[in-house]
Amino acid sequence: MADCQCDDAGSLSPREVHDRLTAQRDQVRTLKEDMADKADIGAAVQLLVKLKLDYKLITGQDYKAGSPPSEGSVVQDNGPSEEEDADVDTVDPWNVSATSAKGVDYDKLIVRFGSSKIEKALVDRLEKVAGQKAHRFLRRGIFFSHRDVHQVLDAYERNNPFYLYTGRGPSSEAMHVGHLIPFIFTKWLQDVFDIPLVIQMTDDEKYLWKDMTLEQCHHYAMENAKDIIACGFDVNKTFIFSDLDYMGSSPEFYRNVVKIQKHVTFNQVKGIFGFTESDCIGKISFPAIQAAPSFSSSFPQIFKGRKDVPCLIPCAIDQDPYFRMTRDVAPRIGYTKPALLHSTFFPALGGVQRKMSASDPNSSIFLTDTPKQIENKIKQHAFSGGKDTLEEHRAHGGDPDVDVSFMYLTFFLEDDEELEKIRRDYTSGALLSGELKKRLIDTLQPMIAEHQRKRKEVTDDTVKRFMTPRPLNYLLGNDKDTNANPVTM
Ligand code: TRP
Repeated sequence: MADCQCDDAGSLSPREVHDRLTAQRDQVRTLKEDMADKADIGAAVQLLVKLKLDYKLITGQDYKAGSPPSEGSVVQDNGPSEEEDADVDTVDPWNVSATSAKGVDYDKLIVRFGSSKIEKALVDRLEKVAGQKAHRFLRRGIFFSHRDVHQVLDAYERNNPFYLYTGRGPSSEAMHVGHLIPFIFTKWLQDVFDIPLVIQMTDDEKYLWKDMTLEQCHHYAMENAKDIIACGFDVNKTFIFSDLDYMGSSPEFYRNVVKIQKHVTFNQVKGIFGFTESDCIGKISFPAIQAAPSFSSSFPQIFKGRKDVPCLIPCAIDQDPYFRMTRDVAPRIGYTKPALLHSTFFPALGGVQRKMSASDPNSSIFLTDTPKQIENKIKQHAFSGGKDTLEEHRAHGGDPDVDVSFMYLTFFLEDDEELEKIRRDYTSGALLSGELKKRLIDTLQPMIAEHQRKRKEVTDDTVKRFMTPRPLNYLLGNDKDTNANPVTM
């Protein structure tokens, strides 16, 4: 599939996209009238929804049949609302909800967002470049979508390293296992590619969106940083920063924020994020702050002022709107578009349609849970795909596709063969729900205990070292075997 059609749409005029949209809408109508194959109608509707998104990205306005684009006639975004969009999942930085019991339809999301599927060929390539087996998150499709990853790999193979950027909105002290997914994966990327990493703690974002004081948000940023550091990042290659601290201390960072702010209109952020006139202006300009770390010139101490070091962002797919905007402005301010790797969502303990929340301890496994709490939560609250009675289960088997314990094992059990055996045995009824839960408990208890042990070792001084702006040490791409000198870029 062509990568990011919203980027393509950038080269079309709003009028041209409007006309394409009208043609696509007519096509959907015709297919429906002809009672065409359901799959064909579905594909046509998905393309229509995606074109609408593109249209909104470049004009900031909703598509309206018969009214070509104009300034000023902005219709507010309330998510997909028309009849043809009725089976569309909601996925944005603040809301995720699926229309199906199996959860979000990720293939449809790829079409709608205009990203690319992570095909087997890309996993193989990553494996080859990395020189080791792909991470289980890649092998199992947990990271399932991307933008321009081939490009950063091409550059890497030509000895032009890239850097990694990810982040966390510190909305509470209580982090759960799901929050670790991007960090576990980023740590793997950092190790195999031996490249610098920047981690943004958006304490400003949480202040703007939640009912919390600045000091609370900043405190959570520092506390969450400890959990992130406990994932094992290399202090010589990692810079973690709180927006509240770094923004005011880095002229280069702020200059990039302002450049981005100048090149994105209110109409555009309305279209992308659904902001309204009654949102505070802090929210409206915040996306520029999440965009800025995608550009290497925001970190002169790391990149020695170079503005062309490419960036790769591992994140959950709900963050993509920020980076669609970033990729849209990048060429207009003379920068390279960041590449992205998108993950699926981590399910709540009670099932994919439930929400995880820091205020509901039973909605997930938290990083502070004791072995006993882990056991009780899984036994009592993990949504089961098993049958009601033993006889029924033995006879008909369970459904791993809706079973949260099985899903969690796909995230955390390293052994592919064992996982496959569990799937087979559970489906056939040979493995009971209680036994499956036990396997998950045995996996999570040592993992969380180990995390707690590592977190305890993280002192305030360690946090300070990670969070001090400074040069980072790293080796130059493929030269690492022959050239042991840290790169000076
Ligand atoms: N907005 C993200 C959140 O609320 C935090 C974040 C900032 C982030 N920059 C990022 C996440 C880059 C992924 C990649 O969690």
